[in-house]
This record gives sequence, structure tokens and C-alpha cells, in this order.
Amino acid sequence: MSVGVMKDSRTTGSLLLEKVAHGYNGLQVVHEVNLAVQPGELVVLVGPSGCGKTTLLNLLSGFLTPVSGTVRTEGLVRTVYQQDGLFPWLTVGENIGMGLRGVKDKGRQERELRELLELIHLGQFRDHYPHQLSGGMRQRVELARVVAGDSDILLMDEPFSALDYQTRIRMRQELVQLLEKRPRTVVFVTHDIEEAVVLADRVLVLSQRPTRIVRELVIQAPRPRNPTDDVVVGATRVILEELGLQVHR
Ligand SMILES: Nc1ncnc2c1ncn2[C@@H]1O[C@H](COP(=O)(O)OP(=O)(O)OP(=O)(O)O)[C@@H](O)[C@H]1O
Ligand SMILES: [Mg+2]
Repeated sequence: MSVGVMKDSRTTGSLLLEKVAHGYNGLQVVHEVNLAVQPGELVVLVGPSGCGKTTLLNLLSGFLTPVSGTVRTEGLVRTVYQQDGLFPWLTVGENIGMGLRGVKDKGRQERELRELLELIHLGQFRDHYPHQLSGGMRQRVELARVVAGDSDILLMDEPFSALDYQTRIRMRQELVQLLEKRPRTVVFVTHDIEEAVVLADRVLVLSQRPTRIVRELVIQAPRPRNPTDDVVVGATRVILEELGLQVHR
């Protein structure tokens, strides 16, 4: 099988968790989670701080092995972590280039790099270092790095949580655009309910630790979405209710 560089038309990545449980030194963190993520699907996990979201992603990536249950992944996985994941000693171009190491043809590597720089609107910043960029710009480079080259599955751990509200809204829009151009199967973790509903095909609401899925919402609305769309507002209300955060007057 030849390894395609521009895997634009479809994605094949899928994920399956069966009765997965995990804990640390007697602290039970994940309580029997079942989850099937289909190729091309964007699933968002939303839940309270410390409930076990990062632990779940680490189980999905294979970084952690569950205490019990099985994890099956099909496809190449890339992860975007909660904290800044760029190499500070490499330029923007070199950081994105890290994602293109598997591309052997140099001309093709250069074309891909330019295309990605255009997509994230940082064509002029190719030779800048991460410390010379704003938080939002750094996060865009991070996005470009993870969708560069071949991968099937993206695991994203609160990638926008350190950004201000306006930048966060822009980043969501850029992510949607990037995924249109380069489809991937995505599991996206956030504690931001609005973000979850704006992005997701399916939102899974997690309980407090030991975490389990307490609610599943399929969001059927065309993209791009606005936080003010009726579907988004309606689903946000349902999730707030589920988390016990909706105030009744
Ligand atoms: N390596 C570890 N060793 C021991 N305990 C851990 C470890 N990693 C996480 N925990 C504990 O597991 C629980 C869940 O942590 P986790 O990082 O998965 O939560 P989270 O939902 O991602 O939280 P946040 O929203 O703050 O990012 C916490 O109580 C945490 O203290
Ligand atoms: Mg976390």
C-alpha cells in the first residue's frame, strides 16, 4: 500500500473503548466507559475539572494501559496536549515540518508546508520562533503541525482553553476549516460547553470522578456554527442541566 501525502478525501481512523476502567494508586478515575468513534466523526468529551478527561485521552492514545477493559484504535494517532506543545528552539516552519518528516519528496514537503502556513494565515511568520508569537498564533501552528502529513485520528486535550474568548471562537472556526480540508477522526476534550456544541458531531457529558458517560447528544446542525444558533443554545441548556449548572428561576 502506498502512503498518500494528501489524504484529503476521507479518513479511516476509528476508536473503540469497551468497559474501560482506570485509576491511580487506588484512586478510581475512569469507571467502565464504552465508546465507539466512527471514521471522520468529531466527538467532544465535556466534563468537570479533574473528572478524568486527560486520563481518557491517554487511554485512547495508548499512553496509558487501562486497569481493565479494552482499547482498540485503527489508524495513526496524533495528540494535541493541554499545554504548549511546540518546540521553542524551532521556527514556525520547522515546527510544522516536524509533522511532515514522513513525507520523503522534498518538493511535496515544501508545498504542504506552504499550504498549511496559508491555511493558518501565518505565511509571513514562517521564520519566527514560538516566543515571538501570540498564544493564538502558537495554537494555530500547533494545529497545522498535527494535521500535517499522514494521520487518521486527532486527540485534542483542551487545545484552546488558555486563550481569550474571542481568540477561542476564531480557533474553533479555523479548526472546522482545517478539518474540511483535511478530514480526521477527532476526539476533542474541553470543559467549555459552548465550544463542545459548536464543534461536535456528538457531545459526551462526563460525570465527576470516577468518570462515566452520563449523557450523549448528537448535534445535527450544519457547520460553521455560531454560539447563538438555536441548536447550539438548546444543546448547551441540556448539558448545563445535566451538570446541575442550570439555574431555575
Ligand atoms: N499520573 C497520575 N498519578 C496519580 N493521579 C493522577 C495522575 N494523573 C491524573 N491523576 C488524578 O486523576 C484525576 C483525573 O485527572 P485528569 O487529569 O484525567 O482530569 P481532567 O478531567 O483532565 O482534569 P482537568 O479538567 O483539570 O484537565 C485527578 O484526580 C488527578 O489527580
Ligand atoms: Mg485535563
